[in-house]
Amino acid sequence: MSHMDPNTVVIQMKDIVKKFGDFTANDHIQLTIHQGEVHAILGENGAGKSTLMNILYGMYPPTSGTIEVKGKEVHIDNPQKAIELGIGMVHQHFMLVQPFTVTENIVLGMEPMNGLSVNLKEAREKIRALSERYNLMVDPDAKIEDISVGMQQRVEILKVLYRGAEFLILDEPTASLTPQEIGELMEIITHLTADGKSVILITHKLKEIKMAADNCTVIRRGKYIDTVKVGDKSEDDLAGMMVGREVNFRVEKKAQTPTDTVLEVKDLHAKDYRGAEILKGLSLSVRRGEIVGLAGVDGNGQSELVAILTGLGKAVSGDVVLNGETVTNLPPGVLFEKGITNIPEDRQKHGLVMPFSVSENLILQNFAKAPFAKHGILQQKAIKDHAGKLIEDFDIRPAGCEQRPAGTLSGGNQQKVIIAREVTNDGDLLIAFNPTRGLDVGAIEFVHKYIVEQRNKMRAILLVSFELDEIMSLSDRIDVIFDGKIVGEVKGEGADEYVLGKMMAGGAA
Ligand SMILES: Nc1ncnc2c1ncn2[C@@H]1O[C@H](COP(=O)(O)OP(=O)(O)OP(=O)(O)O)[C@@H](O)[C@H]1O
Ligand SMILES: [Mg+2]
Repeated sequence: MSHMDPNTVVIQMKDIVKKFGDFTANDHIQLTIHQGEVHAILGENGAGKSTLMNILYGMYPPTSGTIEVKGKEVHIDNPQKAIELGIGMVHQHFMLVQPFTVTENIVLGMEPMNGLSVNLKEAREKIRALSERYNLMVDPDAKIEDISVGMQQRVEILKVLYRGAEFLILDEPTASLTPQEIGELMEIITHLTADGKSVILITHKLKEIKMAADNCTVIRRGKYIDTVKVGDKSEDDLAGMMVGREVNFRVEKKAQTPTDTVLEVKDLHAKDYRGAEILKGLSLSVRRGEIVGLAGVDGNGQSELVAILTGLGKAVSGDVVLNGETVTNLPPGVLFEKGITNIPEDRQKHGLVMPFSVSENLILQNFAKAPFAKHGILQQKAIKDHAGKLIEDFDIRPAGCEQRPAGTLSGGNQQKVIIAREVTNDGDLLIAFNPTRGLDVGAIEFVHKYIVEQRNKMRAILLVSFELDEIMSLSDRIDVIFDGKIVGEVKGEGADEYVLGKMMAGGAA
């Protein structure tokens, strides 16, 4: 912060309109970026943020409106042109080649290249220098498959810097990072702006905007609302501007006594994909009518646990017991039939069939059953009615998107489709893995209410989340996972962030 030079406007987008068919994704949007500033763009899922940034990066032309870079009108026809103008973009989904090294990935796709080996050597030195200058701590020789998600993201940032970017667009850079990695990214952003670079930051997390941004432009349903100084506004103000109403951050939850044990995990052992032991005797239980939160830093065995509970991974030893019946290592379909429903972690991979319509995606596991099929024939009206209701309940946008291919929805709205489908499957156990990742505050409020409602209806809920705030505001009981085991348990009510944080880092309660 505060490296901003308010007198130097570097990028100006004026009256940007973007239509897809007769749908207007950007409706006269204004954006002014100063040198050395962090400028946040805030808007609900589907508001048009990524569209606006894709226009700036030359992915597609605006329907109307103009762009100026350093006072000169420009036509950014393709990303190459954007790069020449000093604009770089880090997309939410990384585009790195796993078996290649950092250097190879950064040089890859840059043309022309004569004599690859010579260039690689030079590139390696340049990458090392850049990494040092911005405190990225990236090893140019590391293979992508061996480095963490946070490190991969820094490689993407390096790639953009390597190409000479002065203006960096980061589209939801923190959505897949751990809290520690988020802190590190914020520091990197400070280094960038100190060097005179400007950063456009898209995030749904108001805390991050308060922490890192100078100014914030708010868009709502494709329309420009306002640009404000972040220092003048509270998180509540920003949320209100974004959704056009007051947002309730507090989750209302009445006391309730849980009953029978639905899930019991006993002394579970498992290996990760490299064959190293990752679950080292994990035990936990979830009863009807309670939310058990599993708190922990990414990589301590959460993914492997959920994979085993949903049939996608195998336990080496130990038991999974569901309603008194041992179900260890049964296939996914069987576990689903027995009542385990799941909001999957990787919603791009396990969630949606992109070319299928939203209606079809909403009945993926149930399409062969009544009321969606009768005597083997799909009941179109029932399918459409079901979709219509969920689209309304979950505020999936744009309204009336039943027949659209799921792949054309915005990232957050795709997530809402999966969540709507999974939480309305009424199995005894609901596993929610980072259920609000990538969702806007309005949608988070809705999903949180929904999870509490399911608990009130006496379902058993296992909430696995890297967001400590989410764990603390929803859970009745919190189990802390560290190094493949539960290292402690606290009551949800009155749980202390500091104590939990210490346990998550391997310290005692
Ligand atoms: N190629 C496309 N064809 C048709 N509609 C599109 C296309 N790209 C985006 N849209 C629509 O434009 C709207 C804005 O999408 P965009 O991806 O810009 O939203 P966003 O603000 O980035 O949302 P999120 O926070 O969920 O990522 C959405 O309703 C989306 O369905
Ligand atoms: Mg987006």
